[in-house]
Amino acid sequence: MYDNNPTLEGLDQHKLLDETRQGEALGNEAMAEAATGKRFYIESYGCQMNFSDSEIVASILHQHGFGLTNDYNDADLILLNTCAIRDNAEQRVRNRLKELGAVKKRKPEALIGMLGCMAERLKADLLEEAKLVDIVCGPDAYRDLPMLVNTADDGAKAVNVLLSREETYSDISPLRLDANGVCAFISIMRGCDNMCSFCVVPFTRGRERSRNAFSILAEARDLFERGYKEVTLLGQNVDSYKWENPETGKVVNFAELMAMVASVDPSLRVRFSTSHPKDITDEVLHTMARFDNICNYIHLPVQSGNSRVLELMNRTYDREWYLDRINAIRNIVPDCGISTDVITGFCSETEEEHQDTLSLMEMVQYDLAYMFFYSERPGTLAARKYTDDIPHETKIRRLNEIIALQTKHSHARNQADIGKTFTVLVEKPSKRSALDMCGRNDQNKMVVFPATNVNPGDYVQVRVTSATSATLIGEMVGRGMHKAV
Ligand code: SAH
Ligand code: SF4
Ligand code: F3S
Repeated sequence: MYDNNPTLEGLDQHKLLDETRQGEALGNEAMAEAATGKRFYIESYGCQMNFSDSEIVASILHQHGFGLTNDYNDADLILLNTCAIRDNAEQRVRNRLKELGAVKKRKPEALIGMLGCMAERLKADLLEEAKLVDIVCGPDAYRDLPMLVNTADDGAKAVNVLLSREETYSDISPLRLDANGVCAFISIMRGCDNMCSFCVVPFTRGRERSRNAFSILAEARDLFERGYKEVTLLGQNVDSYKWENPETGKVVNFAELMAMVASVDPSLRVRFSTSHPKDITDEVLHTMARFDNICNYIHLPVQSGNSRVLELMNRTYDREWYLDRINAIRNIVPDCGISTDVITGFCSETEEEHQDTLSLMEMVQYDLAYMFFYSERPGTLAARKYTDDIPHETKIRRLNEIIALQTKHSHARNQADIGKTFTVLVEKPSKRSALDMCGRNDQNKMVVFPATNVNPGDYVQVRVTSATSATLIGEMVGRGMHKAV
């Protein structure tokens, strides 16, 4: 779920080892005028939830009179929305901070704020570690950001890292920052209660809570009315979405929520991420099968193919359970794209257990995988209970074996699509050539094709003529959502 446009292209180690995107100064729907004359710049790292949160932050600041700029040299307030999932995610942010030091030298009155998971993990220690940081604000404290900015303007350091059991920002209409005007994220829940032993997220994002289903629906409707054609429902574990209507006492589960959103309009595509193998129900799969506009794509992180390691990881399922869920997907949603996350070199993982991960990958034949070596995170269950005892070289070697196998599978899965015709939602011109457009098919694969008179937001039919391990290449054979015969 970490990259809007997952790709194995170029087998860039950085991309594979760490999903953290280099923070981008994103295009935006409103280069809003600054009522206060002050401008902010925001860069996001980590998962889609962080990118989605940045849109909430932008909305809050905009309401308080701040304008948005894409150039940090122009900014009065520079924000980094950070990720703490692996050590190298944090290192990347630290390096970026050093670069921003130059801006601060030129313009000492500019404020630098650290938001997100690294801010929550390190709290006020961040101020000690990096003297140029003025504001530290955790993921549940964004409403307080304008106040924190005031405090920092007065010359004091400002910190709010309180986690909440209720905050879902449900009343805040996000300011869309990456507006291609076609695809948008909708955050449906926050936090995580799963306590996987390797994972820092329960500590950085707090307790799991689900957002009001009607506010989710209203956001989807609003996006559709503004011309958006695809929404991705976001949560760390969407299958455990559960919202009780306080008026009727009726509980809405994830399958029901998905059906509500899919009913907004048949031409609004619905995606979701991330699914947890222990929670994904047949009801969810049947709902996917029932609605043409719910995309046939599931990101189902396995982490390891070995049951002992899964137990140490506290994933609460074993290899057999996971494979049963894969079977259920293949039976109920036959043409479903499936991707995963894998961690290699977890504490005490043996060579045979590593082989189990490879053999599971052979069985499933994933379309795409995000692959990482284990990075110990302070404070997690694994850091407290187990020794990080797999030598770095072994981790890298195992990771390379996993990457090589996945590249083979991605290639084969894409080759198998040659000759097929897919509905593609056009997103933007392709990077390869100005004459090509690109967009994703139902299975979340990027499709590139030569196009004239085609605009972002159009549905087209594309017949695949060739493929790499990252992209399908094809020709347009029709328009509209349904397959040309
Ligand atoms: N909620 C999602 C995962 C979010 S974190 C889920 O449960 O599937 C994204 C991915 O980062 C995880 O799936 C895992 O593969 C990887 N990851 C998390 N902690 C890690 C760590 N300490 N070392 C290496 N990879 C890690
Ligand atoms: Fe982390 Fe596990 Fe929660 Fe995913 S489900 S965010 S891996 S604790
Ligand atoms: Fe990173 Fe936080 Fe997401 S740790 S992966 S930004 S939830």
